[in-house]
Amino acid sequence: MSATDPNKSSPTSDQVLIARQVNKTFFSTSGDKVEALRAVDLSVGRGEFVVLIGPTGCGKTTLLNILGGLDSPDGGEIRFAPGFRREDGLAYVFQHYTLFPWRKLLANVAFGLQMRGVPRRRRNARARDLLQRVGLADFERAYPHELSGGMRQRVALAQALAVEPSVLLMDEPFGALDDATRKDLQQLLIDLWQTTSMSVLFVTHNIDEAVILASRICVLSGRPGRVVQDIPVSLPRPRDHLAQPFTDRLLIVRQALYSDT
Ligand SMILES: Nc1ncnc2c1ncn2[C@@H]1O[C@H](COP(=O)(O)OP(=O)(O)OP(=O)(O)O)[C@@H](O)[C@H]1O
Ligand SMILES: [Mg+2]
Repeated sequence: MSATDPNKSSPTSDQVLIARQVNKTFFSTSGDKVEALRAVDLSVGRGEFVVLIGPTGCGKTTLLNILGGLDSPDGGEIRFAPGFRREDGLAYVFQHYTLFPWRKLLANVAFGLQMRGVPRRRRNARARDLLQRVGLADFERAYPHELSGGMRQRVALAQALAVEPSVLLMDEPFGALDDATRKDLQQLLIDLWQTTSMSVLFVTHNIDEAVILASRICVLSGRPGRVVQDIPVSLPRPRDHLAQPFTDRLLIVRQALYSDT
């Protein structure tokens, strides 16, 4: 494509979003300059599970915030597929728990649907169905403080899925969990993703998690973050941690991460 092509930054029909040459610099209150992202190019295909991995502080959350419309880039552009509107088609699971403490679980899961004006009966039925799918059918009347960390992230997942997003952004959603709970939730996420056509962009700095989940891994450099490698992962699911192809992928990602930090 030529540099003058006016459509050069538009997603193709099999892409849901593209970021082109995205830059972001922060200025602290004391006037210090932190260049978080430099010329980041990224695309996410329909139904794809893209994992964004990079060292701490390299700009992963910043990039997700920009894609989610919570922050704006200083340069470059973000384009979505034609007809896509963030307020309808995008959901976000944050790094830290973000449930409403004063709402029971059912009302937490139904929140996005309530905001979209879905009538109570319908939104509650959908929220119940999702609570069941994440294994919390018996907890619809509980409050978030009555749950373990893993249970809260299950609710956050149900809350995000309730609006049937076509793009799901996830920022280290399992980072604070113990290993066994994390593995359970990874499997749950894959099971849920496989029943939909949504695209997931999932941030982690855990290499094992990246290879378990991804259909493609984008490796970011240390700050300022740039995409340094794009690694397709076409291993069959469920993935066997001990199999040679899995450990081969781990090594490739590790090399990509450490060769540029
Ligand atoms: N609002 C802000 N004001 C000033 N600096 C910021 C702001 N947000 C992020 N930064 C800086 O930008 C850089 C990237 O931060 P970001 O949170 O995107 O990193 P990250 O890759 O998500 O890190 P982690 O893996 O630890 O979550 C950091 O140096 C951070 O201090
Ligand atoms: Mg972060």
